[in-house]
Amino acid sequence: MSPETAHYWTMRGLRWACAMPFGRRILIKLFVLKNPKLERNVLGLRFPNPVGLAAGFDKDGKYVNDLTALGFGFIEIGTVTPRPQSGNPKPRLFRLPTNEALINRMGFNNEGVEALAERLRTSDFRHQILDFGKNTEGSKNLKSNVSRLIIGGNIGKNKLTPNADAAKDYEYCFERLFDLVDYFVVNVSSPNTPDLRALQEKEPLSNLLAGLQKLNQAKPKPKPILLKIAPDLNTAQLDDILEIVESNHLSGIIATNTTISRENLLPEFANVENIGAGGLSGKPLRDRSTDVIRYLRARTHLVIVGVGGIHSAEDALEKLAAGADLIQIYTGLVYEGPSLIKKINQALVALD
Ligand code: FNR
Repeated sequence: MSPETAHYWTMRGLRWACAMPFGRRILIKLFVLKNPKLERNVLGLRFPNPVGLAAGFDKDGKYVNDLTALGFGFIEIGTVTPRPQSGNPKPRLFRLPTNEALINRMGFNNEGVEALAERLRTSDFRHQILDFGKNTEGSKNLKSNVSRLIIGGNIGKNKLTPNADAAKDYEYCFERLFDLVDYFVVNVSSPNTPDLRALQEKEPLSNLLAGLQKLNQAKPKPKPILLKIAPDLNTAQLDDILEIVESNHLSGIIATNTTISRENLLPEFANVENIGAGGLSGKPLRDRSTDVIRYLRARTHLVIVGVGGIHSAEDALEKLAAGADLIQIYTGLVYEGPSLIKKINQALVALD
C-alpha cells in the first residue's frame, strides 16, 4: 500500500472505531491523559495539554472529531487554500523507514476553504470536546476545569495565484475561517508550492502580515496569528523574520516546516535521489528544528510552537527546554502511533 493510501485507510479505521458502540470511549480511555498539570495558558487560550497535531495531517478538517479521541491538546487543520486543488501528481509521499522520515511533495491538495468552513460549521466537535474535557482529574469545580480542544487554521495560497496576489488568498481564507478556529497560521514555508517560500522575504512578508493583521484588528475580538517558517533559513533571515513578526504584532512562530535539505540521512535502499523533490520530515529534521527554536527563544518572548522530528517523550522535552511553549507532531505519529501523545504527556506530568 502506498503511504498516502495507508494514511487514508488509517483515518477511515479511526473513524470506524469511533463510530462503534463504546469505540470512542475505549479510545479515550487508552489514549487521553487528563491532568491539570498538562494545561497551558498560551495565546490567550487554554490548552488541555501542549501536544498538538501538526498541519497537513487533516488538511480538510474531516477527522477532527475522531482525532480528539487520541489525546491531542490541539489540532491544526489545513493548509487550506481559497479554491480546491488536487496537488501534485502521485506518488507524492514517500517513507524512509531506516531514517524514520518522510518526504512529501503533496502541494496543498485540499477541498478549498468553503468546504472546510461548511464542515466546521456543521460539525459537532465542540460538544464532543467539552465532553472530553469533563471530569479532569482532581476537578473540584467542574466549570473551571472544563478545557476544550483548540483548533488552529493553517492558511495558504493556491498554486495558480501569483505571489503578487498572494495576500488576497490568505485574507480570503482568514475571513472564511475567522469564526470557526481559535488561532491562525500563515504558511509561507512549504517547499511544494512553487515560489511560496519567497513570501518569507522581507517585503512580501511585511505586506502579507500587515494586511492580515489589519483585518484582524478590525474584528471585535482579534485572533492570535502565527507564522510558520522553514528550517532552511539562515540567521540573518531569521532575524529579519523576527523583526517583521514583532512589528506586525503577530502572536508567535511555528518552527519548523519540512526541510529541502537531505543532510543527516542514513543510506536507504530506496535511493533518496530517485524520490526527487519534496520536504523532509521526521528524525533527520529534529536537531535543525530545535536549533531554530533555541535561536528564536534567545531573541524573543513571542509564543513558539516547536515541531520537527519529535518521536519520543525525550524529543518533546528537548523542544520545550529549547524554548517552545507548545509542540506538534506529524511524522512521529506515523512511526510511533498515537501512544506517543500519551507518552509525552505522561513525561510532562512526571516532571518536577
Ligand atoms: C506536512 N506539513 C505541512 N505543514 C503545513 O504547514 N501545511 C501542510 O499542508 C503540511 N502538509 C504536510 C504533509 C505531509 C505529508 C507532511 C509529512 C508534513 C509539515 C508538518 O506540519 C511539520 O511541520 C513537519 O512535518 C515537521 O514535523 P514532523 O513531521 O517531523 O513531526
